[in-house]
Amino acid sequence: MKITKRIWPGVIEHYRKFLPVTEKTPIITLKEGNTPLIFSYNLSKLLGKNFEVYLKYEGLNPTCSFKDRGMTMAVSKAKEAGSLAVMCASTGNTSASAAAYAARASLDCFVLIPKGAIALGKLSQALIHNAKVLAVNGNFDDALSIVREITKKFPITLVNSLNPFRIEGQKTVAFEICDVLGDAPDFQIIPVGNAGNITASWKGYKEYKKLGIIKKLPKMLGFQAAGSAPIVKNKIIKNPQTIATAIRIGNPASWKGAVMAGDESGGLIDMVTDKEIINAYKFLASKEGVFVEPASAASVAGLIKLAKSGYFTHYTLNIKQTVRIVCILTGHGLKDPDRAIKSVKAPRVIAANTRAVLKEMGY
Ligand code: F0G
Repeated sequence: MKITKRIWPGVIEHYRKFLPVTEKTPIITLKEGNTPLIFSYNLSKLLGKNFEVYLKYEGLNPTCSFKDRGMTMAVSKAKEAGSLAVMCASTGNTSASAAAYAARASLDCFVLIPKGAIALGKLSQALIHNAKVLAVNGNFDDALSIVREITKKFPITLVNSLNPFRIEGQKTVAFEICDVLGDAPDFQIIPVGNAGNITASWKGYKEYKKLGIIKKLPKMLGFQAAGSAPIVKNKIIKNPQTIATAIRIGNPASWKGAVMAGDESGGLIDMVTDKEIINAYKFLASKEGVFVEPASAASVAGLIKLAKSGYFTHYTLNIKQTVRIVCILTGHGLKDPDRAIKSVKAPRVIAANTRAVLKEMGY
C-alpha cells in the first residue's frame, strides 16, 4: 500500500526543525497534534463585534489531552538515551499519556496518583496500557516529590513536565495556532496546574517571533482553580481543592515559568471558582457542542470572568481592529464521565410505549 505524505506525521516530524531531535532519535508517535481550532460563535458574540474567539480542542489528541505533544518528545528521547522505564506523578492525564507512549516504545511505566482524586477515564487509560499504577495517600505534590527522588537515584526517566523535552513538545500547540491564524492571537487563555503548558506555549510563541514567522506575541492569560491557586495567592497551598481534579495542585513545578509568561507578555495569572468552571463546562457542551473535562473549562470560565469585569473594554473601542482570542481546551470530557453525569439531570424512566415517550417530548 502506498502511504502518501499528506498523512499527518505527528508533532515531531511536522515541527522537526524546531525540536531537539536528530536522525538517531527513534520517533515514538501516535500522530499527536494537528488538533482543530474551532471558531466559537457564542463567545465571540459575547465579547463584541470585532472579537474572534477560537477553541483549541486538545482533547482530540490520541490519549485525549495535550500531554501527548510533550510525551512523544519525552519518550522518544528516553528511548534514544537507552532508558528502560519512565515514571510520573499525575492528576491523571500525564499518566494516561505516559502509559500509552511507554507501551508503544516497549518501556516500563510507573505512575503515582493521588488516592481517590483522579477521574475514571484517566485511571482506566493508565491501567489498560499496562502501567504500574500506585495510589499514594497524599496529593499530587506529595507524589511528585517522591517521583523526583526516585528518578534521581534510579535509571528511570522522569516524564513530568520538569523533563525539558516535555516542554519542547508542548510548545508545538503555539506553532499550530499561529500556522492556522497566520500570526499569533492577541490573547491565549489556558488552565494552569503544574504550569508546564503555559510555560511551553509561551516558549513556542517566542521562538516563532524570533524566527520572524509571526509579527506579534499574545498576552498570556492563565487560570487556576480558586481552591488550588498558589500562584495567584503567592503561597504554596498545602491542601488544594477543586472539582477540576486535573489542576488540583498546590505547588506547581513550573511556577516561575507561569509567572514569567504572564509578566513578559503583559497578561496575567488569575483564578476561577468551581461554580464558574462548571458553568463554562456546561456552556461549552450545550452551546458549542464541545465536550471538555472541567479543568479545561477553566480557560473559558476565565474568559467570561474577564469579559464581565471589563478587561476587554479597551479593545471594543477600535472596532476596526479584530481581536483574536484562543482558549486552550486541554482535555476531553469523556475523561471524567462522573462529573458530566453529576452536572445534569439523570434521564427519566418511563413506560415502554409511544404515548409515554411523546408526552415527555412535549408533543
Ligand atoms: N488541563 C488538564 C486537562 C490537565 O490534565 C492539566 C495537567 C492541566 C490542564 C494543567 O496543565 O500542569 O501544564 O499547568 N495535568 C497534569 C497531569 C498535572 O498530571 O495530568 P499544567
